[in-house]
Amino acid sequence: MPVKTPLFLAAFLCFTVNLMSQTFMMNPYGCKNATLLNGKWNAIIDQFGRGESMKFYQNRKPQGKTDFVEYSFSGGLRLDVPGDFNSQVPELKYYEGNVWYQRYFTAEKTKDHRQFLYFAGVSYEAAVWLNGKEVGRHEGGFTPFQMDLSDALVDGENDLIVMVNNRRRVDGIPAMNFDWWNYGGILRDVFYVDRPQVHVRDYKVQLKKGHRDTIAGYVQLDGSTSPQNVEVSIGELNIKQALTTDANGHVSFEIEAKPQLWEPAAPKMYHVEVSTAEDSLADEIAFRTIETKGNDILLNGKPIFLKGVNFHEEIPQRLGRANSDADAAMILSEVKALGCNFVRTAHYPQNEHTVRMAEKMGILIWEEIPLWQGIEFSNPVILKKAETMLREMIYRDKNRAGIIIWSIANETSPSEYRDQVLTDLVALTHELDDSRLVGAAFDNVRYDKATSTFHLKDKVSEAVDVVGVNKYLGWYFPFPLEPEKIKWEVATDKPLIMTEFGCEALYGQHGPADVASNWSEEYQEELYRKNYIMFQNIPNLRGTCPWVLFDFRSPTRYHPLNQDGWNRKGLVSDKGQRKKAWWVVRKFYETR
Ligand code: GCU
Repeated sequence: MPVKTPLFLAAFLCFTVNLMSQTFMMNPYGCKNATLLNGKWNAIIDQFGRGESMKFYQNRKPQGKTDFVEYSFSGGLRLDVPGDFNSQVPELKYYEGNVWYQRYFTAEKTKDHRQFLYFAGVSYEAAVWLNGKEVGRHEGGFTPFQMDLSDALVDGENDLIVMVNNRRRVDGIPAMNFDWWNYGGILRDVFYVDRPQVHVRDYKVQLKKGHRDTIAGYVQLDGSTSPQNVEVSIGELNIKQALTTDANGHVSFEIEAKPQLWEPAAPKMYHVEVSTAEDSLADEIAFRTIETKGNDILLNGKPIFLKGVNFHEEIPQRLGRANSDADAAMILSEVKALGCNFVRTAHYPQNEHTVRMAEKMGILIWEEIPLWQGIEFSNPVILKKAETMLREMIYRDKNRAGIIIWSIANETSPSEYRDQVLTDLVALTHELDDSRLVGAAFDNVRYDKATSTFHLKDKVSEAVDVVGVNKYLGWYFPFPLEPEKIKWEVATDKPLIMTEFGCEALYGQHGPADVASNWSEEYQEELYRKNYIMFQNIPNLRGTCPWVLFDFRSPTRYHPLNQDGWNRKGLVSDKGQRKKAWWVVRKFYETR
């Protein structure tokens, strides 16, 4: 059936409908009047999802002698925010359902100001009430959203209630079946933000595409109906650029400058301020160029080999989602120890602490939306959600020079619908951001026995700038030949990154290096050695990402002794112990 059916076109028509709902303020971390609402919140576990019909959001107290209320936020469960609820209460380990959160906060409504709540990430769906009034809802566990409180906020004490639901959904992204645990809760920071009526909502400050001596971007104000004066300043570059917006609060700019270019060995950051007469936002921004030239990836015009590793947003020792600078430091220090200059933040936009810290540590990033296997590409609802998540990811991280690749999919199967949707998402990504590369990870490479060669025939691989290949030779697929004899002719006109390879091993379990079912460290070690031998035969290989840095939780991993609900492909165990293969990877990166 031709893909361009009315159904498909309807999907794209829908896309434009809900676009505007995706704008949230840029970088509350750099805003003076942003107050973190992190800490202990009261909570109620609502297994049967009756809280909304019982009006939990009114937080009622009994009145008089005959009244009673069959719920209470005080005197019961308390949960850390940010934090997933699964790892905070043993009984909630595999809970998928509704959990209600409540806390009070004090506010003072400044005259001629507007007040917002900003959630950095809630999984998977959120509904928010303030003082009993619904102020907004959001679907998607990995991107921010905000609500304007100006009508619901009172001076003094405010009652904030959030209903969170982490149930998987047939039309969700990710959908029903995926190889990680779908933690639920208010996973990331929550801010109360008081901003002037006219304030800086959005800005982009990066190098102009293809230029190293021109800083370009835009400023978008919120709340303005007439031209406004704004200033972009970068003190260290002696820049104080005065600009005037149009009536809608938008102004683009180009500023001649020669910033020191960011690179892994010298991750130079600049303090940038975007301000109006009444408002200002500060950010730490880096400048670099990224492009491909034939098979090469050029960082600041020089070829670079991406010495990478994958990781989920999870602190294995805590059995929980990573959500802070401390968590980011723990994960990224292990990335650095492994000798990496690159990470793939599998399989979704991870929290800003991790993204920002990676940039500051000189680590390049492949960031992706979780279009992960089993996606129903003919469903317009899913397509709309995929585009929303893509737009929100790019919108949030467009100033993060550490991010060099936006990825639109992982291991999806070719079909007319999928080819068309993903090819269009590639085009949309380039339209949203012409300064970065677009990638996708493919697992449908095919081996031709007659020529001992791997090939890939996939329309979407022709559309992307960088092709990622996920291939588990020695694990899901035996090596078809001695590794040194295997040839690759995949995407030979562009850079190829081996975005996933490796196998499982249980830390401390030992056995012969040629028996897979032992889950031994020796087997994993030997498998990496053989992959690295084979990689010598991939002429356009420009990066490798072992799957995965740490063992991670997955309900799809059933073996009671070797897995027990864990995917054991980590180079490091769930207790932070390095397996033998870790040193094989480290040695390979030392030689690159
Ligand atoms: C896939 C997938 C990962 C998964 C891995 C595995 O390639 O992208 O999310 O965890 O294989 O099977 O361990």
